[in-house]
Amino acid sequence: MKQAYSPLTVGSLRLRLLSRADLPFTLEWRNRDGVRQQFGTADVLQWDQHVGWFTRYVEKSDDLVFIVEDATNNARIGQVAIYGIDANARRAEIGRFVVAPEFQGKGLMREAIGALMTFAKETLGLASVYLLVRETNDRARRLYAGLGFAEVSHAEDMITMERSIK
Ligand SMILES: CC(C)(COP(=O)(O)OP(=O)(O)OC[C@H]1O[C@@H](n2cnc3c(N)ncnc32)[C@H](O)[C@@H]1OP(=O)(O)O)[C@@H](O)C(=O)NCCC(=O)NCCS
Repeated sequence: MKQAYSPLTVGSLRLRLLSRADLPFTLEWRNRDGVRQQFGTADVLQWDQHVGWFTRYVEKSDDLVFIVEDATNNARIGQVAIYGIDANARRAEIGRFVVAPEFQGKGLMREAIGALMTFAKETLGLASVYLLVRETNDRARRLYAGLGFAEVSHAEDMITMERSIK
């Protein structure tokens, strides 16, 4: 079962755990053309599949999805996640990053991923985080490079990037 972490406010952004009421928003963001192709499956997900995923997600203790919102008016900006949390290795994967179309390209996801890494370090006590990105996803790769991630491996069209957060 998931621990109920308190919302984290960093600057003008708030990261709070995903709730059932967010699912219509996250499904719409994730199914957009140009977004869904960046995920494990590029298929358009149906509502029942999304709810089924959420039902399994709430039972997992090592998987946390956060809604990024504007701390002043609670507008939903996007989502970020951390999963495969390995307390012994002090390491986890981060990803499932999606921005709501109206907030794209404003530097808010860069800030949100920075806040997620602060949470990973200070609250979870991790020492490094890694992520997977398609080699064709120039926008995301540029964002991760700017955040200090370095490529550690490359298999077919997937690149693994890692960053120390010690
Ligand atoms: C990846 C994603 C979450 C980033 O959100 P965003 O709102 O574009 O992010 P930001 O505005 O914070 O962008 C910060 C950096 O992203 C890069 N970026 C943003 N827009 C870009 C564009 N049009 N072209 C190239 N790089 C771009 C830049 O490095 C930018 O920093 P800079 O402006 O200092 O150069 C968003 O593009 C998205 O939802 N993409 C589809 C899903 C996806 O690819 N998820 C990641 C899977 S690994």
